[in-house]
Amino acid sequence: MNAHFDLKGKVALVTGGGQNTGLGIGRILAEYGATVVVNDVVPDRAEAGAADLRDAGGSALAVPFDITDYDQVTASVQAAEKEVGPVDILVNNAGLPIGGQMLPFLDSNPDTWRPYIDINIFGSLNMMHAVLPGMVERGWGRVVQISSGSGSVPSRGLGGSMYGAGKAGIEGAVRHIAMEVGPHGVTVNTLALGLMEKLRETIESGSSPVIDAIWDGNIMQHLGTGEDVGTACLWLCSPAGDFVTGQTVHLNGGSYFGR
Ligand SMILES: NC(=O)c1ccc[n+]([C@@H]2O[C@H](COP(=O)([O-])OP(=O)(O)OC[C@H]3O[C@@H](n4cnc5c(N)ncnc54)[C@H](O)[C@@H]3O)[C@@H](O)[C@H]2O)c1
Repeated sequence: MNAHFDLKGKVALVTGGGQNTGLGIGRILAEYGATVVVNDVVPDRAEAGAADLRDAGGSALAVPFDITDYDQVTASVQAAEKEVGPVDILVNNAGLPIGGQMLPFLDSNPDTWRPYIDINIFGSLNMMHAVLPGMVERGWGRVVQISSGSGSVPSRGLGGSMYGAGKAGIEGAVRHIAMEVGPHGVTVNTLALGLMEKLRETIESGSSPVIDAIWDGNIMQHLGTGEDVGTACLWLCSPAGDFVTGQTVHLNGGSYFGR
């Protein structure tokens, strides 16, 4: 194992880690030696994700809980740490609320706003609040926040105002938190994603002009995979990432949103 990318002995917690992007992130972190705590609000997804990582020879524990519930987060992180040791790496990946509706702002209401703010802002803050004190005390830690291009640039017709608000809001918090914890050996960064592989069917069917427009601006004509995001997490969370904090890195095939 190349020492620059070695995660042996580290414990990584990935929220929403049971499928798609989160699962890809867990696969890479496990492959490079981390014990991965697979969180998901859907217990079967958490279990299946952890089984997937173990089948590939990794070490993984399923810990289902809802990241938007502060008390559940505190209790579940404590329980996980009892089993596998303190969390060294947190990847705040869960960010699409189950049943969430992206609507034009004027057609929306507080009930449709809240899930995007809850999961992206409160959920991510709950998680950081649970693990950062231990990281600071031990003098080492890594947090990666998964965001979206929607936090920086609007997409015409996406109905993504609240999604964008949640992503931009947590990116702002991340930069401040990075300043607080940096002197204690803890880095906090954001990866802002573009279109992911799970949208391939939508693109191939031509059913969404909004997605087509974003795809049209994807210079590499490459849809992101969980592993693409996982290898970026590996960079940020391994010794190779020691010099990077408070940043937002865009992983999007060079997409220029809104073209
Ligand atoms: N899919 C894309 O094209 C795309 C683009 C840009 C950014 N992103 C971001 O990437 C991240 C992952 O997206 P994805 O497409 O893999 O999502 P996904 O919905 O396929 O998977 C996310 C997982 O999170 C879980 N989850 C939902 N609410 C939760 C909660 N309250 N607590 C714990 N787990 C919860 C779900 O059960 C699901 O298994 C999100 O933050 C999303 O905003 C995705």
